[in-house]
Amino acid sequence: MNRKGIILAGGSGSRLFPSTKSISKQLVPIYDKPMIYYPLSTMMKAGISEVLIISTPDHISLFQNLLGDGSQFGINLYYEVQDYPGGLAQAFIIGESFIDSNPCCLILGDNIFLGAGLEELLISANNDTKNATIFSYRVSNPSRFGVIEFDENDNILGIEEKPKDPRSNYVVTGIYFYDSNVSKLAKELSPSPRGELEITDLNLKYIERGNIRLKKMSSGFTWLDTGTPESMMEASNFIYTLEKRQGRKISCPEEIALQKGLISKEEFENNLKDASGDYAEYLKTLL
Ligand code: TTP
Repeated sequence: MNRKGIILAGGSGSRLFPSTKSISKQLVPIYDKPMIYYPLSTMMKAGISEVLIISTPDHISLFQNLLGDGSQFGINLYYEVQDYPGGLAQAFIIGESFIDSNPCCLILGDNIFLGAGLEELLISANNDTKNATIFSYRVSNPSRFGVIEFDENDNILGIEEKPKDPRSNYVVTGIYFYDSNVSKLAKELSPSPRGELEITDLNLKYIERGNIRLKKMSSGFTWLDTGTPESMMEASNFIYTLEKRQGRKISCPEEIALQKGLISKEEFENNLKDASGDYAEYLKTLL
C-alpha cells in the first residue's frame, strides 16, 4: 500500500473575482510564493510523494508550467482536469486510476496548515491505512463549515454541513485521509441539492462503516483558508510576520525535499543555478 495524494485546485473562485477571472485562485501568491506551495508542502510533510493535481480545463496547464513533473522536489506530480466544480468528493472519481486502490489523502488547494508537531500528526494519519482520519479545528464562525459532533472519547457522532445552529465550534478542516475504498465509496454518492458530490456525505459513509477517526488540531496549530480577499490578505500578513520574525521561510517544497532526503544537495544546488530573487536566495542559504 502506497498512499497517494490529491490537491484539489479547481473550483470557481467566485469570491475572489476579478482576481480569478484569468488565473486560478491557487496560483495567486500568499506573500512570497504561489498558494499551492502551501498544500504541496503539507503533502510532502505527511510523507506522500505521488501527488495528483486536479484543476479546471482553463488552468491545469498553468500548474504544469509551475510545478512540472515534481522532480525538483523529489516527488512525482500528475495532472487531471475537473470539467466543472462537481464537489470535493469528485476528486476520488477523477483520480480513481491514479489512486489505484491505495489509501489516499486529499488537501484543498487553498488551505494552509502550520505549526510545530504538524509533521508528526500528519505522518501518524498517513500510517493508519485501515481508517479514515479527519482533522477538526475550533473556529469562531462554525456555520460556514462542516460542523462535527463528537463524544468525550472523540468518537464522531455526526457532521452537519453549514448548519444554521451549529452543535459545536469544531469544524472539519481541508485535509482528509481515506482508506483504499475511497473511490468506490465516492462513486456511490449522489449530488447534493447544490449539485455537488459532498465530502461531508463521504465522511458520513465512513462514520456508518465505523472506520473514521477524528484528530483535533489544537490551538497551537494554524489553519487558514484563503478564499476571500480578506482571508488572503490575513494569510499573507501572517506568513510575512512569521518569516520576518524567524528569519526563515515557511512551506518551501524545495527545503522540505532537502530535509527529507528526497533530493541530494547536488540536485538542490543544480536546480537553483539560474534562479534569483528573494525566494531563491533564501534556498541558497540552506546549503
Ligand atoms: P470552495 O472554497 O468551496 O470554492 P471555490 O474555490 O470555487 O471558491 P468560491 O466559493 O469563491 O467560488 O472550494 C474549496 C477548495 O476546493 C478550493 O481550493 C477549490 C477546490 N474545489 C475544486 O477544486 N473543485 C470543486 O468542485 C470544488 C467545489 C472546490
